[in-house]
Amino acid sequence: MGARRGRRIFGLSSRCGSAITLADVKETERASVSILVGSRGRGSNMAAIVEATRAGRVPAKVQCVVAPASDVPAVAVAEGLGVPVAVVPPGEGYGERLVAALAGSEWVCLAGFTRLLPDEVLRRFPRRVLNIHPSLLPKFGGKGMYGIRVHEAVVAAGEMESGCTVHYVTEHYDEGEVVLQMRCPVMPDDTPASLAERVLAVEHQAYPEALRRVLNEQPS
Ligand code: GAR
Repeated sequence: MGARRGRRIFGLSSRCGSAITLADVKETERASVSILVGSRGRGSNMAAIVEATRAGRVPAKVQCVVAPASDVPAVAVAEGLGVPVAVVPPGEGYGERLVAALAGSEWVCLAGFTRLLPDEVLRRFPRRVLNIHPSLLPKFGGKGMYGIRVHEAVVAAGEMESGCTVHYVTEHYDEGEVVLQMRCPVMPDDTPASLAERVLAVEHQAYPEALRRVLNEQPS
């Protein structure tokens, strides 16, 4: 298969991370995180997490970005940041192939991933998968509520505030214990697009902060 350098295709086989070396002890103290992006993923939350880990604000290392196709915009963003990419197309054996791509990861962050996560991944990473959603859950969540649809619903409902939620992932859409919510106002003249932009800026603060919190709480 014609995988570009640093990018692996998980139609069939195994892992995307490199083995931890003993060369840098600090590396071993940082949690290994992989980020799953969806087919529409721009990769801005993924980039915010990568930057926060590199700036030392989050004690983690992003091992891999997992995308459903190589032409997802987030793939180019990840490659620009020098983060390894694994391409795992949905289809037969999707759960097992995702688990293989995530080998070596301790945590998984969903960023713009709009499918239900296969059971195989939830079983392999119990209480170790986070998601970000662009509303104050439980409001404006559930199946079919993602991206601009969420902001359209918030504006249509005449809400005075919105924001984002980082939560643990379960087998249901947008459920699971909330780690962190960050709020922002909805302005009277907001369109779904202008609200989306404001919420996204909040997301870029919230996701790294939520990851920092769960890592600090968790015994390694
Ligand atoms: C983000 O706004 C995220 O909250 C949303 O998709 C966008 C991905 O943007 N996720 C959902 O709606 C999940 N229900 P990004 O690719 O720039 O990070």
